Amino acid sequence: MKILGIETSCDETALALLEGSGSFNEAKIRVMDSALISQIDVHREYGGVFPSLAKREHIKNLIPLLEKVLKGGKMLQYKIRGEKIDDKTLEKLREIMNREPDLFEAFVDFVPKIKKPAIEAITVTTGPGLEPALWVGINFAKALSEFWKIPVVATNHMEGHIAASLISEKSFKAKASLKKIKFPAMALLISGGHTQLVLIKDWKKYQVIGETRDDAVGEAYDKVARMMGLTYPGGPEIARLAELGRIEKKLGKLKTDPFKLPRPMLNSDDLDFSFSGLKTSVLYLIKKKSLTNPVLSDEEKISIATEFESAVTEVLIKKTKKAIETNNIKTLILGGGVTANTFICQSLDKTITKEFPDIKIYLPEKNLSTDNAVMIALAGYFNRLQKTKQVQNIKADGNLHFV
Ligand code: KG4
Ligand code: ZN
Repeated sequence: MKILGIETSCDETALALLEGSGSFNEAKIRVMDSALISQIDVHREYGGVFPSLAKREHIKNLIPLLEKVLKGGKMLQYKIRGEKIDDKTLEKLREIMNREPDLFEAFVDFVPKIKKPAIEAITVTTGPGLEPALWVGINFAKALSEFWKIPVVATNHMEGHIAASLISEKSFKAKASLKKIKFPAMALLISGGHTQLVLIKDWKKYQVIGETRDDAVGEAYDKVARMMGLTYPGGPEIARLAELGRIEKKLGKLKTDPFKLPRPMLNSDDLDFSFSGLKTSVLYLIKKKSLTNPVLSDEEKISIATEFESAVTEVLIKKTKKAIETNNIKTLILGGGVTANTFICQSLDKTITKEFPDIKIYLPEKNLSTDNAVMIALAGYFNRLQKTKQVQNIKADGNLHFV
């Protein structure tokens, strides 16, 4: 089955074409092509994602990306004569993209000119995420579905982050098996909007057993970065400074007194997290510092970033270990944008491998850590396999939960 994945939940517009075969345990997949336009530069001056701008950018990006992936997937064929759309279809399309008139214009200008590709289904992220942004992808999926007469399958963005870790590098070159999961498995999902421990008893059987009570890990990174005057998104910036800090520490070159930050909820009885206190502690640190000198020196920034990353990592490791022990976990899946952080992933990998040598640990390939459509296409393929899960009236749900 060939499936088109669409992702517009936040600040990346992404499309992917994926070919899948076989059922859950023996599924083989090939990534035919994927393309993505990041809006980071657009949102940078606001210090975060601005929903109406995200919507505008998704509207602008979808048709060029569709052309790109169809071409890359060798599915782009122009009709010899451009087809005229009948009035009824035109009205339906206009109705579907009523709130995105520019997308409607771009759609009717391009899609009727190309031959219907051999795609059997479309899958789109319906949540969690920013609703104005999600709607653009959903309405685009609905319009394609209407025009090409193929079904749309709803996909949960966080399920996509789980799926991302199962794709092996080989799938980008040829059809290849997914990484093998032994159940019960568990996913640690760390992104800009979520921090969750998800127990997976079998394919598509999810139970959230721990989550953040306030800020997500990525959100804490971004907020701390903003306090230190670093550019958006702060995650990669803090990671870069923390890396420098660890090197300087090893060489005994870190000049400032090391800052100390708390490890929130490290020893709580549950599997929940809290990162807003950590962020507030950084704020107090900076305020206290600015009494003597209002500008943070590079050394101070490095020191804060290093300590912040250590605190986050320590908490993530402790809670993950606890969840593994209490649930007899056999496979650990790491997912979400913060898995782009090498230190966090290496530290988790080192500790878990040492203390639980029988556990398999899966991480997304580097280009699949942050938001993309390959992960949505794969999760959508699973949803399509599970036909009962198909939704008729697809709508955006900014707070969509695992069932
Ligand atoms: O999964 P994702 O792309 O979007 C959401 O679903 O939220 O995650 C984005 C988050 C941002 O908060 C970003 O700062 C963080 O992932 N991030 C990182 C790194 N790269 C991205 N956080 C820490 N270290 C990184 N290297
Ligand atoms: Zn994400």
